[in-house]
Amino acid sequence: MKVTVVGAGNVGATCADVLAYKEIANEVVLLDIREGFAEGKALDIWQKAPIDLYDTRTVGSTNDYAKTAGSEVVVITSGLPRKPGMTRDDLIGTNAGIVKSVTENVVKHSPNAIVIVVSNPLDVMTYQAHITSKLPRTKVMGMAGILDTARYRAFLAEALNVSPKDIQAMLLGGHGDTMVPLPRYTTVSGIPVTELIAKDKLNAIIERTKVGGGELVKLMGTSAWYAPGSAAAQMVEAIVRDQRRILPVCIQLAGEYGIKDCYLGVPVVLGKNGVEKIIELDLNAEEKASLETSRKHVKEVMDVLDKLSK
Ligand code: NAI
Ligand code: 2OP
Repeated sequence: MKVTVVGAGNVGATCADVLAYKEIANEVVLLDIREGFAEGKALDIWQKAPIDLYDTRTVGSTNDYAKTAGSEVVVITSGLPRKPGMTRDDLIGTNAGIVKSVTENVVKHSPNAIVIVVSNPLDVMTYQAHITSKLPRTKVMGMAGILDTARYRAFLAEALNVSPKDIQAMLLGGHGDTMVPLPRYTTVSGIPVTELIAKDKLNAIIERTKVGGGELVKLMGTSAWYAPGSAAAQMVEAIVRDQRRILPVCIQLAGEYGIKDCYLGVPVVLGKNGVEKIIELDLNAEEKASLETSRKHVKEVMDVLDKLSK
């Protein structure tokens, strides 16, 4: 079984590495537009196999989509990352064109693939890939919520001085400062988090999570890759192993949460057919208002894409 990762940069190469060492696929094709770059990364990951003991084959390709033919899942990470001072939305002009041409090539060679978008601005690039691919909405999704909840869970584990393994959390909305972490749906080994941490501390963690990507851009001069690459690989694993995991995933909403024609992160069941089910939580008034703010923001950026495409 074959998985392709488009973009052999920081996130793409990390994702390919995780897919290989966890043996999530038999073959991982890494493709990039930069001459020899993907081949080099794929060879490096393959040369790690005798050390880390895995047999996933990793193959590199310089823009030759024939090598990706018949992929079951394709992860799209191609595009510019943020630099300090930029928002994710500032990337739309360049990344929309890249995601469009990549998606066209992907579906031409792997018409039955499930597509996972990582490129930013995430929700709107998922929209771009969905309309370009003409695939059903359940087969084109974006990775953001797993990363955002991971940041939230990591901050909570640190504050509570407990294992991150024991923190479960859910989050809604767009991948940006308007994301909606849900304390009401956050537990520590089944214990509501609100019983373990003071409200002001929890609020500070929520605010840090919302700008968690920006914190890393300030530190490194570019955006993160270890957690994003692993998060994308977790989605691939849920699909290829038909795990039916409940994860926050960006998908086109078609009436769920009272929202239509907007791409937002929501809890879904992820399995062999892609998004098997969207889970609708019974939100309170405050959560609904926060989701509406996030929807409006994503819709504004979708409108920018529509204008660019004319
Ligand atoms: P990077 O610059 O390290 O890698 C991007 C790669 O895409 C480069 O190697 C480049 O040559 C390649 N590329 C550009 N145009 C291409 C094309 N037409 N076909 C194939 N490859 C092409 O960037 P990085 O850090 O890997 O980030 C990639 C994207 O993922 C960015 O847009 C970034 O903002 C986004 N991102 C999204 C996250 C999320 O949670 N959804 C988290 C982290 C990054
Ligand atoms: C992140 O949240 C930049 O979207 C990327 O790290």
